Amino acid sequence: MHFYVATLFPEQVSGYINTSITGRAIDNGAISLDCIQMRDYAPNSYGRVDDTIYGGGTGMMIRCEPVYGACKKAYEMAGHKVHTVYMSPKGSVFNEDKAKELASREDLLIICGHYEGIDERVIREVSDEEISIGDYVLTGGETAAIVVIDAVSRLVEGVLPNEEAYTNESHMEGALEAPQYTKPPVWNGREVPGILKNGNDALIKEYNRAASLYDTWKARPDMLDKLDLTEEEWKKVLAFKKGL
Ligand code: ADE
Repeated sequence: MHFYVATLFPEQVSGYINTSITGRAIDNGAISLDCIQMRDYAPNSYGRVDDTIYGGGTGMMIRCEPVYGACKKAYEMAGHKVHTVYMSPKGSVFNEDKAKELASREDLLIICGHYEGIDERVIREVSDEEISIGDYVLTGGETAAIVVIDAVSRLVEGVLPNEEAYTNESHMEGALEAPQYTKPPVWNGREVPGILKNGNDALIKEYNRAASLYDTWKARPDMLDKLDLTEEEWKKVLAFKKGL
């Protein structure tokens, strides 16, 4: 999968994505990244991309031309109009379903705002959707773009070692992942639950399902509502709670 990012701070995005798991995915060709510097498309020779806001808002806005120029460059590089996302606190909130949907595409262009954001006209012109990573405001869209690229990349074939690595995770099956443990079996007086050490796969699976539902119930009851648990499953969650 190929990612294009239109940004004023390409090193912020490439620095992160070129590191660790996503960096290895770039090396093995599972994903690729082109950051396009919007300043290269400034409508003046000195590279100024922002200006004051009509109607008297405070701060500066990114003008249409640099954003449009960077997007056109991405479409030219791809040879077609690429699905274009604008990272914005006004967008729909990103989640695993959206990550799956984006991961099914061959490429994606992400536009990052900065300062007071981007002139609305160019967003209307090029963007197919606006995505927020949560109900708070960041200094720029770059960190949000990194979140989206990271979450989408791990669903792309060849990025993680096997399918299990991403299906047994929080949010994949509508619930949070059960707690997991590694060596030693006792640390600081805290023991790994005995059932996880007894080698009985069926019991371990049942225990992990109850632990997962219990943790979801505690931390994200809204998610549990959507799962519509059977009476049997509720009993297991309650039994799990008593066993703690
Ligand atoms: N830019 C600024 N804040 C943002 C947010 N919460 N999500 C996506 N992009 C943003």
